[in-house]
This record gives sequence, structure tokens and C-alpha cells, in this order.
Amino acid sequence: MQYSEKVLDHFMHPRNIGKMENPDASATEGSPACGDQVTVYLKVDDKDLTIKDISFLSYGCASNIATASMITDIAKGKTLEEAKKITWREAMEALDGLPPVKVHCSVLAADTLQTAISNYEIAHGLKEVPNFSKETILDELKKIIYPQVGEDIVSLKMVKYVGFTDGEVLIDLNIPSFDQWRGNIADEIREHLEKYPEVKDIQINM
Ligand code: FES
Repeated sequence: MQYSEKVLDHFMHPRNIGKMENPDASATEGSPACGDQVTVYLKVDDKDLTIKDISFLSYGCASNIATASMITDIAKGKTLEEAKKITWREAMEALDGLPPVKVHCSVLAADTLQTAISNYEIAHGLKEVPNFSKETILDELKKIIYPQVGEDIVSLKMVKYVGFTDGEVLIDLNIPSFDQWRGNIADEIREHLEKYPEVKDIQINM
């Protein structure tokens, strides 16, 4: 597998690595695709809402460590509003790219940063806890990467329909029966959605 010089540099010499004592917020997320985990810690200036300090711990692969290193570097010193705009794509581009099958590793790092910011905002009354809705389902589907091309299944127009009524999620996907990733994608969707207590049943048609 070909990695860029920057990926190798951030993997061998990760920036902002380590557990933070008394963080103002943190988040731990796991990737259903590989079972790996990342934690992001934040110290936030409560006057101007800038990220004063940030660190991470990764139990992931080289791509995940490199992306977490890059994304924490990008986020440091930014306001929460600015940091909310940082995407996995931005971090991946800053690393001069990742192989398509490794894109989910960068999504995991970027999502964990966003969850840590959201946790800070909820804890400080800057944001209400969002209600579970069709939007929540769509946001989760945007995190699911089709490994062959390294793009999410929503951007690839593989999601034809999303419904949510009385705890039942209904998703229609546009994936041919001979597609080798079909089963993985269905499993990943279930793992992403089953964590919500509002979800009682998930039906995936394809
Ligand atoms: Fe798990 Fe990369 S394979 S984070």
C-alpha cells in the first residue's frame, strides 16, 4: 500500500499525542469497519471559545494516527466554529491523500473531533441535545465509506430512500447484488444506528 511522505511523517512522529489531564471535553469513537478507537481531548478558552489545547489517543492504524495528528494540528488555536468546519477530506488532502480502503480511518478521526466539540457545547449550554430524526440517520450514512472508491455512500448516491417511523428505520440502497461490499455496508449501517436508543428496528433493502 502506497502512503505519502506526509502520512508516514505524521505516523512516525504524531503531533498532539497523549492523554490530557482535566480536559474541558473529550470523545471516544470506534469504527464499525475495523473495530479501532480514537479519543480526542480538548481544552477550550471559555471567553473566546478557541481550542487552547488538543490531544488524541489512537488504537487505530497508521492512517488513523496520521489523520488524528494532522486534524488536531489544524484544529489547535481555531475557534469552535472554525474547527466545526474541518472535514476528513481536508485532513486527508493535507496529508496528500490516503488509499481508498483507508479513507474510513480518516473519517473516524474527524468524527471524533466533531463529537468532542459537540460534547463541549452541550455541557456548556451552547447547544441543545439534538432529537433523533431522519437527519441523524443521514448524518450517520455520510460517515459510511464505500471502500473501493473511498467516498461516502450518500455522495455516491447509493442511498435512495431513508424513513423513520415509530423507532423503525427503513433504508433503500442502490447497490447491485453482485457487489462484493454489499454485506459490509449493511453491517456498518446497522452498527452506526443501533447505538441510538430511539432505534428499535432497521430494515435495509437493496
Ligand atoms: Fe482501523 Fe484504520 S483500519 S482505523
